[in-house]
Amino acid sequence: MISIIVAVAENGAIGYQGDLIYHLSADLKRFKALTTGHTVLMGRKTFESLPKGALPNRRNIVLTRQQGVSFPGTEVYSSITEALGHCTANEKVFVIGGAQIYAQALELADELEITLVHDTPAHADTFFPDYKNSGRWKLINSEEHQPDEKNPKPYTFLTYIRQ
Ligand SMILES: NC(=O)c1ccc[n+]([C@@H]2O[C@H](COP(=O)([O-])OP(=O)(O)OC[C@H]3O[C@@H](n4cnc5c(N)ncnc54)[C@H](OP(=O)(O)O)[C@@H]3O)[C@@H](O)[C@H]2O)c1
Repeated sequence: MISIIVAVAENGAIGYQGDLIYHLSADLKRFKALTTGHTVLMGRKTFESLPKGALPNRRNIVLTRQQGVSFPGTEVYSSITEALGHCTANEKVFVIGGAQIYAQALELADELEITLVHDTPAHADTFFPDYKNSGRWKLINSEEHQPDEKNPKPYTFLTYIRQ
């Protein structure tokens, strides 16, 4: 089971200058709740953006094309295929970014867990690939939330499965 998890703005933006654009408390909590106890797969740049390194209580997998590198608390592979080859059939693998890895994993994923932030940021340099117009994804859950003191923008949790 491969699930893509992402927080994305209305224009598809997901990052700027190596960091996230939004830090919504509810999104971070949902990310933790969904991924804890499972496997997280990420690109080398996303790993390097994590403030405390490998995410606790999860199997962390990092993708890089560099040979002979290691990152504390992670397994390192040189392709998505190689990484998935080291996962078992009943393991839930969350693809947690960034843009390069999302683009390559979209065709392999069974599920999308999207936090759609109802905003268009002034600055962005990384974007989630278009998924809405492919006709491949069926929306099975949608949960709208208004902004509050911990979540400055309105947002909707969306779950899609491959159809
Ligand atoms: N909004 C969100 O939910 C979210 C989530 C995650 C990340 N982000 C943001 O996205 C941005 C980072 O995304 P990004 O696209 O620049 O980088 P990325 O996808 O995190 O990492 C790219 C790196 O992954 C490695 N890589 C890519 N494809 C590979 C493959 N097929 N096999 C092996 N290694 C591969 C390469 O590492 P080497 O160069 O070492 O070879 C490449 O430079 C940041 O701004 C981050 O904050 C946002």
